[in-house]
Amino acid sequence: MLIFNKQAELKKHLESISNATTTVGFVPTMGALHQGHLSLIANSMTENQVTVVSIFVNPTQFNNAEDLEKYPRTLDSDVVKIESVSADVIVFAPSVEDIYEGNTVSKAFDFDGLENQMEGKHRPGHFDGVGTIVKRLFEIVNPTNAYFGEKDFQQLQIVKKMAEKANLTVKVIGCPIFREENGLAMSSRNERLSEEEREKAALIYLILKSAREQFGTKTVQEITDSVTAAFEQYPDFKLEYFEIADEENLIAPQTIDQDKKYRAFIAVFVSNIRLIDNISLN
Ligand code: PAJ
Repeated sequence: MLIFNKQAELKKHLESISNATTTVGFVPTMGALHQGHLSLIANSMTENQVTVVSIFVNPTQFNNAEDLEKYPRTLDSDVVKIESVSADVIVFAPSVEDIYEGNTVSKAFDFDGLENQMEGKHRPGHFDGVGTIVKRLFEIVNPTNAYFGEKDFQQLQIVKKMAEKANLTVKVIGCPIFREENGLAMSSRNERLSEEEREKAALIYLILKSAREQFGTKTVQEITDSVTAAFEQYPDFKLEYFEIADEENLIAPQTIDQDKKYRAFIAVFVSNIRLIDNISLN
């Protein structure tokens, strides 16, 4: 498997193997790979002639220094996992210096208000960091298709918006959430939970499913109240937000329009680990 640490070398290689009709699939990640990431890589392998996976813990998207410091960095085992999908994948694992060239700051983006909802409200600057790194990586890889998980649904919509506003030709493709057997959405942060906490965290998906069952018969407020009340019974969980929103603009609906798609979004602390999840409601 080819592994590049420098953007210039990756670019040179991609130019040497591509012509005008070569399709390049791209899967950006921060490593600590799990089945969710691997499913994106498998999709890219099926749909493109060349697949590039980036592994880069992007400092500018962390609003919490401890979270950045504790983020798992497991390049060797990540490479083994990617190889289990295909040895043809090209890995790009740059240093902070190579990407940011001495200026590790994010640019300010306008995502037409998508950045002011949910994760944007609770993680100041996060989406400027995501926009900065994804745009930079798109410029380096110049992908035909880029694969993002619905696990981070707001991020997916923001990346689509960024590509549209910057007139990029890349097609941004959303892929379904991969879950543990108990329903917990796979996440690199799950590594920081104990076995017992991981079992308990299955509650998040159970509650999301109960919200989906209530959708259509109860109001958004009634569902939100019932989710809040449910979490109050579990002192190990601290609910940060639960919101039902329109998939397009991520705003909570006043009335339900049958022609629109809605999702429930949640952020919960289990011990001091912050987990996010979401579910399609209709
Ligand atoms: P990371 O959290 O490593 O996730 C990389 C990609 O994997 C994202 O598109 C994410 O939505 C997807 N993913 C994570 N867990 C998933 C799951 N359980 N099922 C399906 N897909 C899943 O998201 C990032 O990194 C960063 O913000 C990044 C886009 C790389 C920019 O730094």
